[in-house]
Amino acid sequence: MARATRQSSFLHKLSRHTAHNAVAVDLGTANTLIYTAEGGIVLDQPSVVCFDRGTSRRKGSDAGVAAVGVEAKALLGRAPQNLETVKPLSHGVIANFDAAEHMMRRFVAMARPRRMLARRSAFTVCVPGDATRVERRAIREAAFASGAASVNLIDESLASALGAGLPVASATGSMVVDIGGGTTEVGVIALGSVACGGSIRVGGDQFDRAIIEHVRNLYGVILGEQTAEHLKTTIGSALRGEPIERLRATGRSLEDGLPRTVEITSEDIADALALPLRQVIAVVRQVFESAPPELVTDIADSGIVLTGGGALLGRLDQCFAAELGVPVRVAEAPLTCAVRGAGAAAAGAVVADQPAFCAYD
Ligand SMILES: Nc1ncnc2c1ncn2[C@@H]1O[C@H](COP(=O)(O)OP(=O)(O)OP(=O)(O)O)[C@@H](O)[C@H]1O
Ligand SMILES: [Mg+2]
Repeated sequence: MARATRQSSFLHKLSRHTAHNAVAVDLGTANTLIYTAEGGIVLDQPSVVCFDRGTSRRKGSDAGVAAVGVEAKALLGRAPQNLETVKPLSHGVIANFDAAEHMMRRFVAMARPRRMLARRSAFTVCVPGDATRVERRAIREAAFASGAASVNLIDESLASALGAGLPVASATGSMVVDIGGGTTEVGVIALGSVACGGSIRVGGDQFDRAIIEHVRNLYGVILGEQTAEHLKTTIGSALRGEPIERLRATGRSLEDGLPRTVEITSEDIADALALPLRQVIAVVRQVFESAPPELVTDIADSGIVLTGGGALLGRLDQCFAAELGVPVRVAEAPLTCAVRGAGAAAAGAVVADQPAFCAYD
């Protein structure tokens, strides 16, 4: 289907629903958020589900689901043998459909206040720009299985830009870099669509793994993923230098297998993250190289906006600005930009006569 036709059919479908039963969903690798115009963010939970191995699972039923969200995340790496903890998404797309469907159903049921999710709602779900047709279909089906009456997909970059308050409908280009748990999406937005973009399967999860690897090499101690994430979010920095923060972390010694506590500094984290950050910045450079010159000029003026949880990494804006030579700022509430933007799009925030509002079948 031609893009323009697809766009108009998407807008037409949206217009059949009033704002109060439009539901936006950001089904992310790390976190799932649900937003309604009336209730704001009605669910914000880690994308984790825990199954009871002893109970057989059935499609459309909660049987066998032991925990979801925060409760399930607390069991990651700690679950007893009768429980299986699953992260259904990998790099922004569904890796385990059965688990994703169970998790979504529970999340929709958990959303508070309940009445905000009217029955037969129209769901607008964020999707990575480079997701394949099969991956998009899986996301749509998971949304239908959790009770959606209709499902529209919106490019995550466009949603993030809208949520960050960028002038997406304007002819002037803006750049958004969304650093999530499993992917980084770079989008140049103009005239209500993604003019060009790029993505890399590097995000917060890869940052955590890089920290584990670095601490192992430096101190001979193996940290758990949750410990590494805690270090990153508490003292993490994208750049070496003052002020240097310190935090004690306990892991397993490579030498004797026993617990050992080491003091980690923000400079250790900066060293650990140097490689994955270079990979992310390389994608931003590629997007600059492929963008039309006029849009590059616009971005040189307006700068880059960082969204997604990774944007909260200490001094990331300074690191990007130093590497790329353009102004960089972190969006307000970067973890919720995509879902708020999808909600705004569903409520008609993008002017209907703007071309190519991204939607996919
Ligand atoms: N203060 C912080 N510093 C660094 N990273 C952080 C901070 N807070 C959260 N994060 C990281 O942000 C990531 C989650 O971000 P987000 O919720 O935007 O991802 P997601 O949307 O679920 O993933 P994706 O978009 O890749 O599917 C996690 O890796 C988390 O560790
Ligand atoms: Mg995301």
